[in-house]
Amino acid sequence: MNKTKYEYRNVYCGAIKETKNNTIVVGWVQKIRILSKMIFIDLRDWTGLLQIVVFAKNSSLYEKAKRITSESIVQFTGDVVCRKTVNPKLDTGNFELLAEKMNIISISKELPMEVCSIHESSESTRMKYRYLDIRREQMLSNLRIRNAITNTIRNYFQSNGYLEIETPILNSSTPEGARDFIVPSRNYLNKFYSLPQSPQLFKQLLMISGIEKYFQICKTFRDEDLRADRQLEFTQLDIENSFCDVEEFQNFLEELMKIISKMSCNPDWSVSFNRIDYSTMMSKYGSDKADLRYDYQIVDLDRTSNLCFVKSIDFENVDLKGEQISVFHKIINSYNLASFQTNKKELISEKYSILPLENKNNTNRFRFVAKGTEKEVRACLGEIRTRYILLFCEEVPEYKFTWVDNFPLFEKNKENQLESSHHPFTKPINYEDLYTKNPEEIFGTHYDLILNGYELGSGSERIIDGEQQRRVFEILKYEQREIDQNFGFFLEAFKYGTPPHQGIGLGLDRLIMIMTNNKSIKDVIAFPKNSAGICPLTNSPSSVNSQYLKELGILKHETKEETEK
Ligand code: AMO
Repeated sequence: MNKTKYEYRNVYCGAIKETKNNTIVVGWVQKIRILSKMIFIDLRDWTGLLQIVVFAKNSSLYEKAKRITSESIVQFTGDVVCRKTVNPKLDTGNFELLAEKMNIISISKELPMEVCSIHESSESTRMKYRYLDIRREQMLSNLRIRNAITNTIRNYFQSNGYLEIETPILNSSTPEGARDFIVPSRNYLNKFYSLPQSPQLFKQLLMISGIEKYFQICKTFRDEDLRADRQLEFTQLDIENSFCDVEEFQNFLEELMKIISKMSCNPDWSVSFNRIDYSTMMSKYGSDKADLRYDYQIVDLDRTSNLCFVKSIDFENVDLKGEQISVFHKIINSYNLASFQTNKKELISEKYSILPLENKNNTNRFRFVAKGTEKEVRACLGEIRTRYILLFCEEVPEYKFTWVDNFPLFEKNKENQLESSHHPFTKPINYEDLYTKNPEEIFGTHYDLILNGYELGSGSERIIDGEQQRRVFEILKYEQREIDQNFGFFLEAFKYGTPPHQGIGLGLDRLIMIMTNNKSIKDVIAFPKNSAGICPLTNSPSSVNSQYLKELGILKHETKEETEK
């Protein structure tokens, strides 16, 4: 026997553009107003809202409708008619549906958070009830923009001859500077897979395979401290090409960024592309991802020795009050600056100073002065600059993309050990430098793409010679055994015809965050982790059963709470 198809709807709420009999709509009840002669219901689906009217004269329907709660899912059938009083705020504000039939599909209990108000609930509530948070118009819009941008990216690459190829999630380690997440192997005790920090090695191997143009929108994983623009798992737009000129490639990406900027929440913002070298960036702005829409610059005041620099940065039109001063105190105190005195009237003395400056126009000017090693002073004033812009500057309506290049190939970390400033596969500008120069004086082909104060992506030309690659590992003090064990397969691959290649990894979440005017990537990820690395919805990370741990050869450690029990 043929079953008749059940019709949930014959039109979406938001698509109602004319009067029509026998209309069926279904959705969530956003608002319900019960009057003595009628009930007004705002019904919402993911295209918009429609006003439904239930008349008291249809008493059984009226009594049933009175019991509907907000956010229940209800289906209505009736005629769409013109409204007597138009609601100009609503796209469907000229129309309403006069309900003849009603089918309550799912009743909602009282919600733990607001989904229709402009007031946001606390972050912990939003994350615990993420499925409700996503009902909010703002979140839905973020996800729609994310979907549209991702789609555009895919089409752009596909139509330019790129191949999207997936690379493994269960991997050996890819050194990108963060800790790996590791997955124990059940079959091989004491062996682990690492989740990819990026597909770096695989995309290079694909070049050796002759895949000339690769891209992938992929999940990557890094066990690092979280910030507003960092998650433990995030999405990269990963790209690699062979036989490709870097400038041509960057122009190709610029065209994509222009298209994406027009799809953003601010399609009328101007879009510009600039270039600056790393050392200028650091000396003028104190950060390799400074927001260059603002011109505040660090200047040199004095230099008493190679280890002692005095630098300052001035800000105008600012009236620093106690609370704001303490924000700057905190920043300054987190740096290791030298003690010094200035002879002007200081707001804060000892290690640094904030000087109110005299000027004829009577506008408030402040000078922040810091003294210490060049690295500390720049970083400190750079952070003050960022905070000042955040606190006091109006948003400049521009997408200012900047390529930062000429990075040193290596840099010293806090423990004074050499690290790659990008990753160990970056080609030095001159190969001979690897043998002749002090590593800190070697420059690499690495470039970053920054946008309005965020690092969007990092790329470079790659080393294509096994010997040079081994040399970089040696400079980084990797042991020969470690090189052979971790990268033997990679060095071997270089022996069979390796094309010159280069590429970039762009943070897709960050790009979408900026394009949707958000300040945290959590707002553009459907199910993110909170700043403590926890998912309040599913409670991950969670314990696993002891037997399972035993099979994996992992000892169960008692937590403090378990010991105290
Ligand atoms: P890199 O390590 O610079 O380069 O990463 C590329 C881009 O990924 C984004 N990103 C992140 N986004 C959110 N949360 C994080 N924890 C996080 N970490 C990085 C940033 C960053 O610029 N393999 C190289 C690329 C290459 O050389 O091709 C790489 O991964 O936007």
